[in-house]
Amino acid sequence: MENQIQFVQWLRSVAPYIHAFRGKTFVVAFPGELVMAGALPVLAHDLSLLHALGIKVVIVHGSRPQVEEQLGLRNVAPRYHKGIRITDTAALECAKEAAGELRLDIEAAFSQGLPNTPMAHAAIRIISGNFVVARPIGIIDGVDLEHTGLTRKIAAETIHSVLGAGGLVMLSPLGFSPTGEVFNLTMEDVATAAAIALHADKLIFITETPMMTDASGTEIRELSSHQAQAVLDSNCLASDISFYLQHAIKACNSGVPRAHIVPFATDGSALLELFTHDGVGTMISSENLESLRGANIEDVGGILQLIEPYEADGTLVKRGRELLEREIENFSVIEHDGVIFGCAALYPFPEEKMAEMACLIVNPEAQAQGDGEKLLRHTENRARALGLKKLFVLTTRTAHWFLRRGFVPATVDDLPKDRQHMYNWQRKSQVFIKNL
Ligand SMILES: CC(C)(COP(=O)(O)OP(=O)(O)OC[C@H]1O[C@@H](n2cnc3c(N)ncnc32)[C@H](O)[C@@H]1OP(=O)(O)O)[C@@H](O)C(=O)NCCC(=O)NCCS
Repeated sequence: MENQIQFVQWLRSVAPYIHAFRGKTFVVAFPGELVMAGALPVLAHDLSLLHALGIKVVIVHGSRPQVEEQLGLRNVAPRYHKGIRITDTAALECAKEAAGELRLDIEAAFSQGLPNTPMAHAAIRIISGNFVVARPIGIIDGVDLEHTGLTRKIAAETIHSVLGAGGLVMLSPLGFSPTGEVFNLTMEDVATAAAIALHADKLIFITETPMMTDASGTEIRELSSHQAQAVLDSNCLASDISFYLQHAIKACNSGVPRAHIVPFATDGSALLELFTHDGVGTMISSENLESLRGANIEDVGGILQLIEPYEADGTLVKRGRELLEREIENFSVIEHDGVIFGCAALYPFPEEKMAEMACLIVNPEAQAQGDGEKLLRHTENRARALGLKKLFVLTTRTAHWFLRRGFVPATVDDLPKDRQHMYNWQRKSQVFIKNL
């Protein structure tokens, strides 16, 4: 019985995502390591689910370990220059062989359809072809990289018509030049170029690398492309993760609204990333989140203006200018063109490893555009960075907003001791808690 209720609740909770994603184009790229790890059948299940939900899916596969294997079988030593493979004639043969085999394995995985499996009745058609135009990288520091290339163009119109007809498109890390040559490309390059050319809504890398962390070991869940560039420049990432991040940033800077880097180690990671509020990977967004920042003393006036109407109608507890000035460091603000449009405050209770989010407000003019959500995520990240495990809020009018964002009802007894003493029994605010 409990299972049934949970199931229904869960199914309902994904409805908003289904509405939001229908008809959208996602480019999903994965390395050859995923296939080596035996994770292809499960990925096919997950992608066929996206397809069934009306998402247009383009998949791009990598082939590095498979190429290495082919080279090994032929006793050819791999050659690199500055981390880039030199594709001589023998290596190109290996790359073609590896891509051909992977393509067949992927086609087979998408042909599953036994009754009582996630792909029963799926009948997915997966189409590949000469959709990638490539050019040689050329000569770097006097070293000719031979058949190693870069994506020059993607046959976007053809791909769109295949997607429009209900097909799923597969791209291999090989491209063709107008001279009729084949070039060996990286999966990351093909996927990024495809996402840009197709005006995709998302570029998703499902990776062999673990969840991205910053220099202090804290997981990085969300970054603007500007912040991502700063992380990249700080050189604290392993080279394989920074290669993914570099491409995610490029996509975001070229019009793809969101890029995700999701480790495949977690079962169903792509689904968790897409259909849960917090996801299991790192999301890079193109929008400029620069306007979301820590508050300083000059912002006090703007914040006061923002909170006054809500103090007047009783939504928020009154706090004077002086208190605000004293506590300004707890606040974050969203600023557009010098005007404060939103704010939120974080009050840590380190002993209990908890924090309170208070004074969350978005200017009525700017509401319902996701700013509240951005402030929430930012505050969560601030709390996580402090090593805190739980975030709580006290609210009288906004219960549902928090419920929809992963908070669960709690009682005053669940609050840190010091906060319990300050609880205002006349206001009778409801308590909500979220695990971070
Ligand atoms: C709550 C608040 C911060 C949300 O900011 P926002 O930028 O509008 O939030 P988002 O754009 O991320 O989310 C908007 C969604 O929340 C819903 N929402 C707004 N206020 C809500 C409320 N009080 N209860 C339930 N849902 C609410 C909107 O209808 C909208 O739903 P939709 O996406 O289905 O259209 C903003 O409405 C606000 O400032 N409210 C007044 C102050 C307040 O109540 N603060 C909380 C004190 S604890």
